[in-house]
Amino acid sequence: MSDAAPTQEPATEKAAPPGAGDGRPGAAPTIAPLESLPLATRDLSVAFGSHRVIEDVSIDFPEKTVTAIIGPSGCGKSTYLRALNRMHDNVRSAKVSGHAYLLGREILRGIDPVAVRRQVGMVFQRPNPFPTRSIRDNVLAGPKFVRGRIKRSERNEIVEDSLRAAGLWNEVKNRLRAPAGRLSGGQQQRLCIARALAVAPRVLLMDEPASALDPQSTARIEELMVELKDVVSIVVVTHNMQQARRVADFTAFITIEDEGEPGRLIEHGPTETIFDRPSHERTAAYVGGHFG
Ligand SMILES: Nc1ncnc2c1ncn2[C@@H]1O[C@H](COP(=O)(O)OP(=O)(O)O)[C@@H](O)[C@H]1O
Ligand SMILES: [Mg+2]
Repeated sequence: MSDAAPTQEPATEKAAPPGAGDGRPGAAPTIAPLESLPLATRDLSVAFGSHRVIEDVSIDFPEKTVTAIIGPSGCGKSTYLRALNRMHDNVRSAKVSGHAYLLGREILRGIDPVAVRRQVGMVFQRPNPFPTRSIRDNVLAGPKFVRGRIKRSERNEIVEDSLRAAGLWNEVKNRLRAPAGRLSGGQQQRLCIARALAVAPRVLLMDEPASALDPQSTARIEELMVELKDVVSIVVVTHNMQQARRVADFTAFITIEDEGEPGRLIEHGPTETIFDRPSHERTAAYVGGHFG
């Protein structure tokens, strides 16, 4: 880990010891100790004012895996994901409760959000590079922000490694100084992935990362997720069931069961189980395309 690693002591407060879950429906079976998990949430809830959007979501995100989060529009998937890299910090009405742990360490409070984002990167639905800045500067933006000055030789290395990891190097190596805005949408999204990877995070959160892209660019992003999981644990929100089936080792299904209720985790497990042998009727209906 680098000098940007969190410096505070680990929070003394611990989650309930992981065991056979806590008996509630939807609680995932947890075997691994929290300390060994790149990311885990326990009873994570988010409300905006009196609007409870998501409640009591407990999911483990193991190393070298892709976890897909699926569920109907508005059930709180993005809200959940955004809590994980502290994006609700600046939303005055937002109240985030429960826990999120990175290698056993609480990241929702008692730690600088920048330190969290150094370990938990985010890629959004619409590619959002800095369009007038160069491809190279886009990749270096994160490392510069987190670490300050970086030696030239190291800068070159970060740029090449990150672009290679994002499957973009060969397409852009001869025009690193060109503005990012000139790239195609799919290339811009891979640049955003390179930018996120440049700080060597433990976890990459992706919120419908391919839904604004053409089928070929989507396929590239899906391939990338599978390749990248060896170096970074991936959590991807997707409304595309086939995509979840293709890329995800685990799938979590979130939904709003009754109008006015918050979104809750209904079921979480190996992707095959969720799609082919779900335990809950709601899950079966959703993955079978009967609602949402
Ligand atoms: N910043 C916010 N302020 C108020 N309400 C919000 C905010 N962000 C999301 N919401 C509400 O939370 C609910 C869930 O939204 P979202 O997490 O985007 O759902 P999903 O990603 O599953 O489609 C919606 O009703 C939305 O209006
Ligand atoms: Mg969303």
